Amino acid sequence: MELSERLKKETRSAHQALDQHPMLRSLVARSSTIDQYRLGLQAMYRAWKPLESAVENSLKDISRFQPTPEQTSFLAFCDANFKPRRHALVDDLRVLGVTSLPSDRAGFGFVDVPQLLGGLYVFFGAQLGSRVIAASVTENVPGAPTGFFTATHQNVTDFWKQFRIQLDDLPLDQTEIPSLFQSATMAFEEFRKALD
Ligand code: HEM
Repeated sequence: MELSERLKKETRSAHQALDQHPMLRSLVARSSTIDQYRLGLQAMYRAWKPLESAVENSLKDISRFQPTPEQTSFLAFCDANFKPRRHALVDDLRVLGVTSLPSDRAGFGFVDVPQLLGGLYVFFGAQLGSRVIAASVTENVPGAPTGFFTATHQNVTDFWKQFRIQLDDLPLDQTEIPSLFQSATMAFEEFRKALD
């Protein structure tokens, strides 16, 4: 089984804990109201900011991870495709009348390449869910601002395909794989904790 497929399998329950979390469920519920959407978006901000910052800080200076040449080119691909979305989230919150942003939780970071790969998987994969949420909000809460959920790649499916192909092609030491799985699971868990 390819690495990306194993990663999906290993993190399935961590993802489920997120997409079944009441705060995120309320974003996609048919009965969602603008007040619920505002609350969900505030929770999203608390969770998204530390993940995005961890990824951004790591990509800023990849040399400290001492990546191999193949890893360097994958990380360059990620860096080229990195687009911060927290500003769009803040703009959406402002439109909804939120002027004071939720306070930050203690952040987290990655210390080596396998850990960073796990975080990148969660960060970039989140675009798939975002598209689902955007479509649902547009239908269920007409007029609600969806700048954050639509600030993804134009063609998320294509991007995700490329991301997976490149990840699967990376030569990784077998001993590094458990750390990658653990890091992706941790990124999902940190996200879930921040929603509470
Ligand atoms: C209500 C919230 C969410 C919904 C409804 C949702 C839904 C989805 C859907 C439909 C997919 C595509 C599954 C597939 O192609 O088989 C997906 C994939 C994914 N989502 Fe979510 N998602 C949500 C939240 C999140 C969040 C907040 C994150 C990250 C912080 C996230 C991370 C991922 C990742 C990494 C994948 C890729 C799975 C893979 O194909 O390997 N999701 N999500």
